[in-house]
Amino acid sequence: MGLVFGGRSGEHEVSILSARTIADALSAGANGQRYHLLLHYITRSGRWLVGDGAKAALSGAVTPEPDDHLPCLPTTAQQVDVWFPVLHGPNGEDGTVQGLFTLLNQPFVGTGVLGAAVGMDKQAMKAVFATAGLPQVPHVCASSSTLSNPHGLVNQVEQDLGYPCFVKPANLGSSLGISKAKDRKALLAGLHAAAHLDDRLIVEAAITARELECAVLGDSTMDVSVAGEILYGGEWYDYTTKYSPGASSVVIPAPVPQAVHDRIRCLAVQATQAVGAYGLSRVDFFYQDNGHVLYVNEINTMPGFTSQSMYPMLWQASGVSTEALVHRLIQLAQARHQRRASTIA
Ligand SMILES: Nc1ncnc2c1ncn2[C@@H]1O[C@H](COP(=O)(O)OP(=O)(O)O)[C@@H](O)[C@H]1O
Ligand SMILES: [Mg+2]
Repeated sequence: MGLVFGGRSGEHEVSILSARTIADALSAGANGQRYHLLLHYITRSGRWLVGDGAKAALSGAVTPEPDDHLPCLPTTAQQVDVWFPVLHGPNGEDGTVQGLFTLLNQPFVGTGVLGAAVGMDKQAMKAVFATAGLPQVPHVCASSSTLSNPHGLVNQVEQDLGYPCFVKPANLGSSLGISKAKDRKALLAGLHAAAHLDDRLIVEAAITARELECAVLGDSTMDVSVAGEILYGGEWYDYTTKYSPGASSVVIPAPVPQAVHDRIRCLAVQATQAVGAYGLSRVDFFYQDNGHVLYVNEINTMPGFTSQSMYPMLWQASGVSTEALVHRLIQLAQARHQRRASTIA
């Protein structure tokens, strides 16, 4: 079992924490007999480390960047029978590593290239959700190249969305690069800041809503967890709030009417299928209880897996332990690989 973590991503640290939870779950109980873990750590510059280097990284040590070779797959990859890529954000949750394992013809946990790429890019994701008829907050897509002459874009945002609005790079995660703009000056500052991180940008009308999340697990048939709610004190759920202990809390199941709960579960599967994802996903919602309005915010095809993360907690609350969850994910990966092999043969 090849556990891949770290990665050339702003969510490098989160990936290490997620991998720790998964490594523990893969070593516990019956999983300890089933799986022999081969740790594969990808450094911030994209080099792969195995053995003691990877072990040290998993336990939180800062490992020096090897600078003597190009990023390449270590030979230990030959011993791996199934991969578990626990990479969040760019260069891991976006189809890149999924493409690598597909080329290697080795099974891997989670969605394939298409679902990862579409799920990662907020412009593509929103376009696909719109085609599937999923409810979304009004938004405008933009390109960093328009910022040399932003008047048209600013006018469009002011006319179609107004203030406040959220400015987002299309391809990050964990709220990185996102800002809330309350006036034109902040909008322009937010667009320039986001454009440093991505060429593809999104501006979205800011709404006042509760934040609910739901977990999906499966392949041709998909199981859905109960929905959970995130509570936090600040204005919005930014990076610091997400990862500072005590800054946010979760309520599972979310205290919402049963009909809303049912609709969330249904929309979570529809969103997952719309982007062509399978394996696992977490679908996030905005809920305005005044009028019971639901919007799909986003899908995460490799959701956070730390001990405090929603994805494993939603499954625990739905009767699936993290130990059973990781075993199931590996079984799904192997079953899909076998199906794919027999289709190609
Ligand atoms: N349109 C919006 N209205 C209100 N809050 C928003 C909106 N878009 C984003 N936010 C806030 O910003 C957070 C991060 O945005 P999100 O699109 O989920 O990015 P990420 O992929 O980085 O998690 C959300 O959880 C929410 O708190
Ligand atoms: Mg989010």
